[in-house]
Amino acid sequence: MRHIISIRDFERRDLDHLLHRAGEFAGGGFDRDLLAGKILSLLFFEPSTRTRMSFASAMARLGGTCISVDSMEASSIAKGETLADTVRVVSGYTDAIVLRHPKEGAARLASEFATVPVINAGDGAGQHPSQTLLDLYTIKQSMDLDGIEVGILGDLRYGRTAHSLAYALSLYDVNLHAIAPKGLEFPEGLVHELKGRGMEVRNHHDVRKVIRDLDVLYITRIQKERFPDLGSYYDVASSYRITPETLQGVKDRLILLHPLPRVDEIDPAVDSTPHARYFEQSRNGVPVRMALLSEVMG
Ligand code: NCD
Repeated sequence: MRHIISIRDFERRDLDHLLHRAGEFAGGGFDRDLLAGKILSLLFFEPSTRTRMSFASAMARLGGTCISVDSMEASSIAKGETLADTVRVVSGYTDAIVLRHPKEGAARLASEFATVPVINAGDGAGQHPSQTLLDLYTIKQSMDLDGIEVGILGDLRYGRTAHSLAYALSLYDVNLHAIAPKGLEFPEGLVHELKGRGMEVRNHHDVRKVIRDLDVLYITRIQKERFPDLGSYYDVASSYRITPETLQGVKDRLILLHPLPRVDEIDPAVDSTPHARYFEQSRNGVPVRMALLSEVMG
């Protein structure tokens, strides 16, 4: 049984295989009944648009069905049921479980009690591995993953997409620029791990000082919901924003990615520049999740 919990569990060849499979699904030449008769549970205990809907779309395109719970309030967790009991029960109804949960480590815990594969769709400030796969896929559409300069901008402290992506990039020959407002830098343990994996990590506070060196800029939202209080959120809110002016003098091949939703990190005027790839990136969620689901349940 294959759980998909953290990018740490992947080797480079696993990622390359999934990206290759995603390309095949995107090309359209696949069996539309590949997952016919299979049922996927979507347990989303935090808000979601892209992740939830692209998993559902991927499942539908492969002939399968989804059943879902959309909030803690609407589930028996509101009555005091533990996550362990919930996933034990849900395992009896479905062939795999996609779980989003506000607590870091929730997906790992669920995988210990589930009797079907668990896919982590975001565990608090932890990891978001399926997002990383579509991020890598989108980079690969424009350039090779080796020998590039990648900047990850924003909330590197709480951002799970930033954590997963940084891990994944350490499997490739990438120079990483960590660009964060003061106090929102990558957790020390993560930086230590990345360096141990041979990755160069350079720290910056101002994206304008480094953007001209980059091939990829991955922009993230400040994770307001993870801050201990609103005051500390407002101290850093709106501290960076990519505008057409910020892009003056950048490499022609620079691509801008964002897992979305954006709040005010990217001026909508940037959307029509040749650098913007974030809407294409969100579309790539479907073939990438088709590849993942077919691997887990096929
Ligand atoms: C991200 C998440 O939930 O971590 N969204 C997504 O899945 N595309 C990013 C975010 O919420 O900022």
